[in-house]
Amino acid sequence: MTAALEINEIHKSFGTQKVLDGFSLRVETGEILGLLGPNGCGKSTVLNIICKLLLPDAGQISLMGQPLNQMNDKDRSLIGFCTQRSALYPDLYPAENLHFFGRIHGLSDKECQHRVGELMRTFSLNTFANTRVGQLSGGSQQRLHLAVALIHQPSLLVLDEPTAAVDVEARMDLWRLIEDLRDRGTTILLTSHHLAEAERLCNKVALMRNGKVVANGSVADLLLRMPGQAVAKVQSEDHQTITQRAMLRGWTVRQHAGHIKLFLPENLSLRDIIEALDGAKLTSLSVQPVNLDDAYLELTGEDEMMIT
Ligand SMILES: Nc1ncnc2c1ncn2[C@@H]1O[C@H](COP(=O)(O)OP(=O)(O)O)[C@@H](O)[C@H]1O
Ligand SMILES: [Mg+2]
Repeated sequence: MTAALEINEIHKSFGTQKVLDGFSLRVETGEILGLLGPNGCGKSTVLNIICKLLLPDAGQISLMGQPLNQMNDKDRSLIGFCTQRSALYPDLYPAENLHFFGRIHGLSDKECQHRVGELMRTFSLNTFANTRVGQLSGGSQQRLHLAVALIHQPSLLVLDEPTAAVDVEARMDLWRLIEDLRDRGTTILLTSHHLAEAERLCNKVALMRNGKVVANGSVADLLLRMPGQAVAKVQSEDHQTITQRAMLRGWTVRQHAGHIKLFLPENLSLRDIIEALDGAKLTSLSVQPVNLDDAYLELTGEDEMMIT
């Protein structure tokens, strides 16, 4: 089946700084894919290239099976882009912003009026109908920003860190809106450095490091690739004894931010772990099932590896 978006081996440097180095990714129709990586790793650069705001140095991109570099402005309207920095006009009212962007995307006045009414309702913006956008809270502005990206009913919605700049309450609210879009079959590519956000919203995640995707799949797929089902986090002055005892049990050991992580084959109790570490001095110990944070550190190689 034709992918909604297919990116093959993109390269991009800014001066001597290589930001994308053979970046490839496929987004299927109807899925919501989260591109994850730390600040500065190149997520926005990827999105800006997809949305033709930047040109890649090399590589191919196709949108709904059509090469991006052969598309005209009208075809580009297949994408709705919610950039990291708001593109809204602060002096205009919410409906005026929606109308303005609708016209930019080539909608007629009548089509605009219809869509604006629809989006003002779906995104609960009518309460703010008489407030200029600059006076709205960050969360409400972001809600409007999302609506603006959807004004022309794009085939692919691209969201750059949609909840990065809002408070916790607004984040929950935006998550619900994005979940609604997902449940209605909207194809979405979003970036995040918030792993819990991706775990909640995305069917698939792609982990980025050194300018490329190093692992991708559903969260469940990525967790299956972990060397255990649970992780014990241990603090101790005696790393050596702990490492030795854990190795005797066949557990995978990693060093992370001053503590030791032990990947366990099953979800053992604290008592079982203390017994297995037999006599090693512990300052603290906790155990929990593996989650996307562990998968991220493991699959991007961010943890200092002790034993593989
Ligand atoms: N237009 C640009 N000119 C020069 N450097 C840039 C430009 N855009 C991004 N960069 C650099 O590229 C790197 C990746 O940036 P970005 O794609 O914004 O990362 P992310 O979105 O993952 O935080 C950063 O080091 C950033 O400073
Ligand atoms: Mg960014």
